[in-house]
Amino acid sequence: MLEEQQSTRASSYSTRPSYPPVIALLAEHDEILKVLGAFETWEAGVHATRKEERFGLRQFLQFFMDFADGYHHVKEERVLFPAMRRFGFAQEPGPVDIMTSEHEQGRQMIGRLSILASQSEPWSPRCFTEIHSLVQSYVVLLRHHIDKESKVLYPMVEANLPPAAWEHIAQRFDAIDEERECAGQVQETQDLVAALLRAAEVLPLSTNRD
Ligand SMILES: [Fe+2]
Ligand SMILES: [Fe+2]
Repeated sequence: MLEEQQSTRASSYSTRPSYPPVIALLAEHDEILKVLGAFETWEAGVHATRKEERFGLRQFLQFFMDFADGYHHVKEERVLFPAMRRFGFAQEPGPVDIMTSEHEQGRQMIGRLSILASQSEPWSPRCFTEIHSLVQSYVVLLRHHIDKESKVLYPMVEANLPPAAWEHIAQRFDAIDEERECAGQVQETQDLVAALLRAAEVLPLSTNRD
């Protein structure tokens, strides 16, 4: 019966998740997409008004470093992708290499934004332009990345990994979640997300400058 279900999934790549680790990863995607939208709106306001919002930028970067990269990508790179390699996704360059390379591209953009957020000199017009370009590129990169994972990669992996692999993945995810919960990071992230969504609302777009 289970084999029949797996084979149906393999042929259709249903987008309805079945395994708890996939449901968790999709919920994290939703959280990241929500903050990406706020980041885009907030930064458009900064770019239009030329307000030097270093603190706000550092807060957004903190979310992408701590949650998107330091938590969600860690779960993918340390648990899901190695499991994929063990179960026939080892061809190179394959989906694991492409997804890992996109994580790295995002890290480099966030790294450059962190340097700009903490530089001692005031932000020059060139600096505002670079921040604008980096934020737009990061938002596009991560949205496309998430879209590919949610609609293609995860359903494909669900259809091809056996239940035992999902049990192992679930245990590893639970351990990561427990560590994060004990360190108080779950509440910290909730508070940070609430602050970031508010920040996008209180810095309205201005049409004074382009
Ligand atoms: Fe990813
Ligand atoms: Fe992801």
